[in-house]
Amino acid sequence: MADSSARGSSARDASAHDAWFRDNRANWDDRSAVHEASGYGIEELVADPGRISSVLAQDRERLGDLSGHDVIHLQCHLGTDTVSLKRLGARRVVGLDLSPESLRRARRIAARAGAEIDFVEANVYDARSAVEGCFDLVYTSVGVLCWLPDVAAWARVVASLLRPGGRFLIRDVHPMLETIGEDVTDGLRIQQPYFERPEPMTWDDDVSYVAAPEGGPAITHGVNHQWNHSLSEIITAVLQAGLVLDSFEEYAHSDWAPWPELMVQDGDRYRLREDPDRLPMQFVLAAHRPADDGRDT
Ligand SMILES: C[S@@+](CC[C@H](N)C(=O)[O-])C[C@H]1O[C@@H](n2cnc3c(N)ncnc32)[C@H](O)[C@@H]1O
Repeated sequence: MADSSARGSSARDASAHDAWFRDNRANWDDRSAVHEASGYGIEELVADPGRISSVLAQDRERLGDLSGHDVIHLQCHLGTDTVSLKRLGARRVVGLDLSPESLRRARRIAARAGAEIDFVEANVYDARSAVEGCFDLVYTSVGVLCWLPDVAAWARVVASLLRPGGRFLIRDVHPMLETIGEDVTDGLRIQQPYFERPEPMTWDDDVSYVAAPEGGPAITHGVNHQWNHSLSEIITAVLQAGLVLDSFEEYAHSDWAPWPELMVQDGDRYRLREDPDRLPMQFVLAAHRPADDGRDT
């Protein structure tokens, strides 16, 4: 069962959360096929044992040498970043995700890439009971918090997975970017909530942030539910879960192009063509669990 605080206190809230997660799982199962067919850097990762994903490459220096470290990657999707964490030297690597189809593909990709990874199917709110042991690093990246209704409950799960002294790193879409809708015919306008709300924003979409080739797999389960969380809600959640903030950065680039007509590609990333400093698109937060916080585990 999920952390009850993530699903609300009443039976009605719990069943609403279950229904939202069910829709999101079906949507991500479909997206996994579309993403694999799109390329997603998979063949490059398989062909070159020294390669790491373009997302993880941005965190390589922050992460350092992971030799001998136990690592859990939350919301690992197709496991391209998970394989990369293994390649940075990690000892035990666990990838956790809600979507069984993402994990089926991730297992196959990791086997082809020669990376030994334990992939676990679970809701992130259930991660503590789904996985044995504690970790030196919890990592999660790019497109994760928007799928979670309660950022405070999520941060408590992250803290519960860390060993004393263990580190946490999240690179994610900036909540200001999440406030701008898809329709930018009138320019960048705030159309969606900035602060966390109990009710989700619900869409029915047959597209994802990358496209399958013509005639490839389709998204038939389009209904999906998302939530935004403000910067202060994210940072407060991490601090109240007992972690110590080490750094917090904001960036004007994205790993994909939310509005292709307004953006230019710069290497593996995308920026606004005009005045990119107008909008933060990503943030990176690093924190750690104190070595002597008095918790038993
Ligand atoms: C945008 S992807 C993460 C991107 C990832 N960095 C990558 O390599 O592509 C979001 C992932 O979160 C997963 N997810 C969504 N809600 C979840 C939940 N409540 N618990 C666990 N995983 C969840 C989805 O199944 C999906 O694989």
